[in-house]
Amino acid sequence: PKVFYTQPDGAERVVDGKVGDSVMRTAVQNGVAGIVGQCGGVLSCATCHVFLAEGELDAYPPVSEDEDEMLDCAATDREPNSRLSCQLVLREGTDVHVTIPPEQL
Ligand code: FES
Repeated sequence: PKVFYTQPDGAERVVDGKVGDSVMRTAVQNGVAGIVGQCGGVLSCATCHVFLAEGELDAYPPVSEDEDEMLDCAATDREPNSRLSCQLVLREGTDVHVTIPPEQL
């Protein structure tokens, strides 16, 4: 699947992801700016915060209690379509579109 990363300034980067990898890991492996993934994907940092395309919100399991708490700590205020990208796991045939928040550290 392809992952489309849009930067706060509108610049877009498209990366070929691997099924089973998270949107966070895919970003880190490909040097996508703005997704840090400091905790390695265990829901204790919120440096992988993204805004998920509205039409794709239902394609993933809902926000867990831990994710919900971490989203409250994100550097950029959360929106209804906020997710932690370490929790978005790539699936066969399902492209993902995310926007990176302006402040991510
Ligand atoms: Fe730390 Fe996602 S990488 S919460």
